[in-house]
Amino acid sequence: MRHLPDAAAEWLRYVEVDRQRKPSTLDSYKAIVRSQLIPALGEMPLEAVTTDAIERWLSSLSGAASSRAKALVLLHHRLRGVSATITLEPWGSGDLPLLERLMGDPRITEHLGGLESPDKLRERQGRYERLEGGDRMFKIVDVASGVGVGSVGFWTKAWCGEQVYEVGWMVVPEFQGRGVAVAATAQAIELATRADKHRFMHAFPNVDNAPSNAICRKLGFELLGACEFEFPKGHFMTCNDWRLELRA
Ligand SMILES: CC(C)(COP(=O)(O)OP(=O)(O)OC[C@H]1O[C@@H](n2cnc3c(N)ncnc32)[C@H](O)[C@@H]1OP(=O)(O)O)[C@@H](O)C(=O)NCCC(=O)NCCS
Repeated sequence: MRHLPDAAAEWLRYVEVDRQRKPSTLDSYKAIVRSQLIPALGEMPLEAVTTDAIERWLSSLSGAASSRAKALVLLHHRLRGVSATITLEPWGSGDLPLLERLMGDPRITEHLGGLESPDKLRERQGRYERLEGGDRMFKIVDVASGVGVGSVGFWTKAWCGEQVYEVGWMVVPEFQGRGVAVAATAQAIELATRADKHRFMHAFPNVDNAPSNAICRKLGFELLGACEFEFPKGHFMTCNDWRLELRA
């Protein structure tokens, strides 16, 4: 049975070696692990460190807000395995380099109709900056480093005679496989639900795009079936039509 100290040691190694965090950041994390996490939750088996248990513990803490926030980040990492905690920020005028790392990378565009030229990327950047009518595009930001690691967005689309949201996501290869896309899409769904503009949100991953189909399944989308989908213009591929009811 694994306990929090093992997971924390594994995570600290990841922060130090893989993420190359500054010694001062690492020291502050080590201090939180030693002085707060382990005394409070160290004896519990990992499965028992539930959201409720964490919230009870956090509300009893009296330390500085920043150390509470760091402790929370750390717990999120533990609860997702060695994974990232992310937040969404509106896509900004300085985000073309991130777009180039996404749509300019063949590993990302494999199921998206292929690489985009520098001109197309600039055009897309311009569109993202000028979205209106409730269409939204976000930069996915890794909280620990403040770095942009992907995109997620939703926009209105006419589909089968109805106005719906379409949602799409991308994560840079170095950050894949840590739950970033699931966490970011869950936040985007929350924002679309609050906007209350359309009843349904659809996602159209290529039938061969295993991670994206897994994301839909995991977030409660219903699989309506496969369809021929045009993306980008003039390029057809077989995609799954996944639908989520936002006004449940
Ligand atoms: C799709 C993409 C965003 C996933 O990003 P990610 O941050 O690695 O995704 P997550 O870590 O949140 O994991 C998604 C799920 O897919 C699963 N998954 C990953 N690779 C898989 C594979 N080859 N087969 C089956 N499932 C897979 C993961 O296990 C995870 O499910 P789990 O949490 O139940 O374990 C990323 O691969 C990407 O940018 N792809 C290119 C762009 C793209 O295709 N966008 C989709 C357009 S609709």
